[in-house]
Amino acid sequence: MTGTERRGILLAGGTGTRLHPITQAVSKQLLPVFDKPMIYYPLTTLMLAGVRDVLVISTPHDLPLFRRLLADGRQWGLRIEYAEQAEPKGIAQALLIAEWFLQGARPVLILGDNLFYGGNLTGALAAASARNDGATIFAHRVRNAAEYGVVAFDSHGNPASIEEKPAVPKSQYAVTGLYFYDSRAVEIARTLKPSARGEVEITDVNRAYLDRGSLGVQLLGRGAAWLDTGTPESLLQAAQFVQTIEERQGLKIACPEEIAWRNGWIDDAQLTRLAELLPKTAYGRYLLDLLGEARS
Ligand code: G1P
Repeated sequence: MTGTERRGILLAGGTGTRLHPITQAVSKQLLPVFDKPMIYYPLTTLMLAGVRDVLVISTPHDLPLFRRLLADGRQWGLRIEYAEQAEPKGIAQALLIAEWFLQGARPVLILGDNLFYGGNLTGALAAASARNDGATIFAHRVRNAAEYGVVAFDSHGNPASIEEKPAVPKSQYAVTGLYFYDSRAVEIARTLKPSARGEVEITDVNRAYLDRGSLGVQLLGRGAAWLDTGTPESLLQAAQFVQTIEERQGLKIACPEEIAWRNGWIDDAQLTRLAELLPKTAYGRYLLDLLGEARS
């Protein structure tokens, strides 16, 4: 494995308690966001970053369902592997669980409930992915920063502090659940102690990079959307957002079949086969209609 390769880690664990009773029997990341399961959104964000090797991490209880949905990824030109997180011990634990899968490759970690949308996203992802040393995280202005990791900047616009759910946020910039690291991230995660909430915090990994002067923070500007799905209200809002854009443009957000085809990872015949697995659905028709379009 070369140190320059990127491998994706998609963390879809947790108990989803804020969405009970919806998530009492089914994992939050399998819930629909309008016309597709939630996990399609972070998965396609990885695909847009050019990542084709993905480790999906979830609870022992939910992992078989993700396997049923995503299989080995070959249908979309990917390689998807699976690993269990027995207990929700924190996002940074995902880096440790993924060590065997990374084999020295640089990880890009994404949370299974994070939705990203915006015109310049693909370019920003490519730039972050290309960086060999250090870490790149993404920040987005939100009204309720205290509910997230928060990054504050000095007068030159460089990151000055990063805190997990501070009572009094030093800025309105929340840290999103998408993290590009160099291959030192696993070592850093190993040194961390659990926080007051008993989790190894991804914010502590990011602070370690900040302290070494190697944390890059990309601002997702106001033209981008970063959506939350943590409560019934925000889940519905995310679905309505996707519906609004898709129905207006006639293009789907977060469609893995389409991205695989446009990236040249699957051919016309494979796209047709995938469409035929979804007969009588608008989703299947959409895939067939793509074949009449130019790929790029
Ligand atoms: C986690 C991270 C937090 C980040 C958020 C993004 O929060 O700890 O820093 O801002 O994801 O979704 P949690 O979902 O664990 O509350």
